Amino acid sequence: MKRMIVAPSMLAADFANLAKDIDLVNAYADIIHLDIMDGVFVPNISYGTPLVETICKRATIPVEAHLMIVEPQKFFELYRSLGVGSISVHYEACNHLDRTIKRIKELGMKAGVAINPHTSVKLLEDVVRFSDYILIMSVNPGYGGQKYIPYCTEKIAELKKLIEKNNPDCLIEVDGGVTAGNIGEIADAGADVVVAGSAVFGAEDPGKAIKKLQGV
Ligand code: DX5
Ligand code: ZN
Repeated sequence: MKRMIVAPSMLAADFANLAKDIDLVNAYADIIHLDIMDGVFVPNISYGTPLVETICKRATIPVEAHLMIVEPQKFFELYRSLGVGSISVHYEACNHLDRTIKRIKELGMKAGVAINPHTSVKLLEDVVRFSDYILIMSVNPGYGGQKYIPYCTEKIAELKKLIEKNNPDCLIEVDGGVTAGNIGEIADAGADVVVAGSAVFGAEDPGKAIKKLQGV
């Protein structure tokens, strides 16, 4: 298996011992993944600005925000000021995706487009040309700890082809239900980055679990 970039989702961290979990991720992982939920775009609310700020301050590796919210553009400047380096917005939440992606990049951050399981990768043919990454949701967004949806592997492979043709620099990130059991097929299909919440923080040895997902 190739070396995968691993982004633990802090949604599954122990919030009563957050400093410990941030330090663990700093020590082993590649990116810190923050799931921002508004209770409108997804049926759940996660965490707000104070926690994002706390995590960014303690982070020694890049922080990415996955915005599962409507009107994500309202928060770009704020997140940049807190130290977030990459932002993904949902295709389904943006009426002006071209403008939204370009705005994130204009602010000096990496820009990603996230798609729900039901959204076809064919719709990304144009935006991949100027996106830094595409985030394929492999569960319906809103909660950690769900089961990987098998047809998403085909979507990764299809997206890989589309990216090779239109912008080989664009990375593929897969988010939801990633485990040591399915990382092989996800990597083989063409993913570069995986998000993992329960597979990391639910493990007996989270550092070892991260290494296993990285393939090192
Ligand atoms: C789901 C989130 C995911 C999730 C991943 O809405 O976007 O990042 O927290 O958690 P696991 O790895 O437990 O599926
Ligand atoms: Zn996420």
